[in-house]
Amino acid sequence: MPHASSPVETHLLGASEADLARASAIVRAGGLVAFPTETVYGLGADATNPRAVARIYAAKGRPHFNPLIAHVASREEAFALGQFNAEARALAETFWPGPLTLVVPVEPDCPVSELARAGLPSLALRVPSHPVALRLIAAAGCPIVAPSANRSGHVSPTDAAHVAADLDGRIEAIVDGGRAMIGVESTILACLENEVILLRAGGISRAQIARIIGREPADMPSHSENNPLAPGRLASHYAPKARLRLNATHVEADEACLGFGPVWPQGSDETRRLSLSLTGDLVEAAANLYHHLRALDAAGYARICVAPIPAEGLGEAIADRLARAAAPRIP
Ligand code: TXA
Ligand code: MG
Repeated sequence: MPHASSPVETHLLGASEADLARASAIVRAGGLVAFPTETVYGLGADATNPRAVARIYAAKGRPHFNPLIAHVASREEAFALGQFNAEARALAETFWPGPLTLVVPVEPDCPVSELARAGLPSLALRVPSHPVALRLIAAAGCPIVAPSANRSGHVSPTDAAHVAADLDGRIEAIVDGGRAMIGVESTILACLENEVILLRAGGISRAQIARIIGREPADMPSHSENNPLAPGRLASHYAPKARLRLNATHVEADEACLGFGPVWPQGSDETRRLSLSLTGDLVEAAANLYHHLRALDAAGYARICVAPIPAEGLGEAIADRLARAAAPRIP
């Protein structure tokens, strides 16, 4: 496989048997393949091949300290790679396949490369529910590490065109499986020792988790931006080019507007606004979030104001991503 810095031809593939066979062969050979999951598109590589994993970091321009999620095709495969206590097992039985990532102690003989784990004694695992993702992982026959398929710090991609815009010429293939349905990343829970800690809000809500473990998951200690528990949680992340202003009840003259619900912020102009959900549906809003941020960015607006969005259910993940997108940029 060529070095990540030299341009490669990016093949656009579909979801036919032949195309997935080709995509899985590229993965086995150490190449990079972007593929759809139910949350966002992932940039996949053979988790057991450190060279392939290194190419992911290079293609994304991602800081090396940020570990990756290993995607597997079944719960049993996940149970073989990590150590699941009773609560982790119950969460896996309930939410896999689906938009939940579990961080558990790594099994001593786990073949996932040290580089993908950023040297941590834990491993992030997920069984996605997207049928194309499951077929690709099964065909590859290895765990596939996959961060979101965007350049580091950019908005996560929810369709194949977004992936191409960020990574064309840097990866071997993109498998087009249509629009990612959920639109925000998986919820990440650490199940280490006897605690369940919410590392990232996402596709499975706090309340859904509480129903299984009988209590709310714990939050990360607040001083933890540099905590090894949350190595990837940089304050400015998921950032569009435009500056964001949150909880806007009015629109300023030079702003585009991202709305939510039937009432637009005051002064919004229909030529420069998009609604996350006109009916105030948080599921629809999550699915539209990155898509609409990209669309307003592509239209060239320097500033975007965002209507208030309730931070309950999926709204917690939306609020988290918007706060990061609005945070001051790391130079
Ligand atoms: O929905 C998703 O989770 C998508 C799709 C492609 O599956 N993937 C995704 O991956 O969002 P990524 O790399 O963008 O985010 C993974 C997060 C990072 O914040 C990383 O720091 C955290 O998972 N992570 C991975 N391994 C970890 C570990 N051992 N301990 C703590 N956090 C970990
Ligand atoms: Mg990401």
